[in-house]
Amino acid sequence: MEKEENAVEEHEFYAAAAKYWEHVPPTIDGMLGGFGFISQIDIKGSNKFLKDLFESKTPPSKTYALDCGAGIGRITKNLLLNHFKHVDLVEQNSNFLEVAKSCLKSYASRIGNYYPTGLQNFCFATKKYDVIWCQWVLSHLKHDDLIEFFKKCSMGLRCNGLIIVKENVTSSENLEIDTKDSSVTRPLSEFHHIFQESNLVCIKEEQQHKFPRGLYPVYMFALRPNI
Ligand SMILES: C[S@@+](CC[C@H](N)C(=O)[O-])C[C@H]1O[C@@H](n2cnc3c(N)ncnc32)[C@H](O)[C@@H]1O
Repeated sequence: MEKEENAVEEHEFYAAAAKYWEHVPPTIDGMLGGFGFISQIDIKGSNKFLKDLFESKTPPSKTYALDCGAGIGRITKNLLLNHFKHVDLVEQNSNFLEVAKSCLKSYASRIGNYYPTGLQNFCFATKKYDVIWCQWVLSHLKHDDLIEFFKKCSMGLRCNGLIIVKENVTSSENLEIDTKDSSVTRPLSEFHHIFQESNLVCIKEEQQHKFPRGLYPVYMFALRPNI
């Protein structure tokens, strides 16, 4: 009985998020909750983080990246295509993916696949990706699904591959639940816990600077499977 109740609760959690995003306009402003003007600062911070990783002793290759919770392809277009030969996008909202296709049409030969699915159900090809980029989407995954997702990411990475996470974190030590968009914002300690449980080592962690006050602190993490 308890198992059934959990399954119903889980289904409702994901259905509520999907419903929320159905009503969000497919624009940069929509993707960033009305803070479209921070997109450039965000991309600049990500670019620097990625460049530092490419200069490390065992950098990832630059062949293939995956953009998780890609929305309308903001990160693929402004960041990932500047560094990687090919990019795949996974996004639960198929309308956003259609807009992404149109925004990315001049790069069509470099986009591999558009996967219209939730990350909790995504099946990874083995050893395909050099970087798996997850930004502003993992708050939509439940704790156990997030660990499962990270474990599947690890299987999907090529040699020296990295998972990069860029997410809001709470300033308190507490989880903050938003019933409006069906998401959970986690404190830093919870992210560290989850990385450990997922058998990942964090090789670089940095706070994004220059975001307006009043927003959650945003952190970037570079994660490597612990082998
Ligand atoms: C805040 S937007 C960020 C979009 C993109 N990462 C960016 O930074 O421009 C969150 C995105 O996550 C997607 N999303 C929400 N829950 C998801 C899930 N379970 N699996 C995949 N994508 C999801 C939403 O549809 C939306 O496109």
